[in-house]
Amino acid sequence: MTFSTAAARKATTSRKWGPWALFFRGFLKHPLMVGSITPSSNTLIRHMLARVDWEKCSLFVEYGPGVGTFTPHILARLAPEATYIAIDLNPDFIRYLETHVQDHRFRPILGSAVDVEQIARDNGFDHADYILSGLPFSTLPHGVGSAIAAATARVLRPGGAFLVYQFRAKVKAFLAPHFSRIDQALEFWNIPPCFLFWGWKLTQS
Ligand SMILES: C[S@@+](CC[C@H](N)C(=O)[O-])C[C@H]1O[C@@H](n2cnc3c(N)ncnc32)[C@H](O)[C@@H]1O
Repeated sequence: MTFSTAAARKATTSRKWGPWALFFRGFLKHPLMVGSITPSSNTLIRHMLARVDWEKCSLFVEYGPGVGTFTPHILARLAPEATYIAIDLNPDFIRYLETHVQDHRFRPILGSAVDVEQIARDNGFDHADYILSGLPFSTLPHGVGSAIAAATARVLRPGGAFLVYQFRAKVKAFLAPHFSRIDQALEFWNIPPCFLFWGWKLTQS
């Protein structure tokens, strides 16, 4: 198949199936990095975001936005002058977000969540208020999950929170060394049902 034929076929698939096809292709290409076959449900999204104090949120960061399943929900709640940085390792997903999300508050970044502190600084921030993670912690390369949890705890402001949704409760082991208060829930309206965690950074540190 020539490049142009392949590109045309890809564009047709994208038009037909949109974000779902792109997400599924991302899973087939990098199953361990994507970690899920379907995007999050609206119920899970509402549940996860319910504890964010949007009036006290100048910088919202998302790790692993994929095709932007949370993105419209975050933008609908975010203050007009706030910023939303979305970091993903997959260039196809970042290109999709750059093309499909037109909002001055939104900054899709190709990179790793491990580098969140540098990415925040590059964007003019010394801390984040809330960080949401859709990363598949249990299938990340050894050491990466712990490094991300540590960097997240450093960059969050006191009183801020790390919001994590995950199919296995095991992720709590990554959070526990860095967050002394962790709230937990189970969301059944998702395929598959999903654990939700809110790791709160202490107000004085
Ligand atoms: C389960 S998908 C998240 C899907 C999406 N947030 C949703 O709710 O439907 C996991 C995402 O994490 C990304 N990812 C994996 N490792 C990463 C890392 N170290 N830094 C940033 N993104 C990463 C993958 O490319 C993928 O887009």
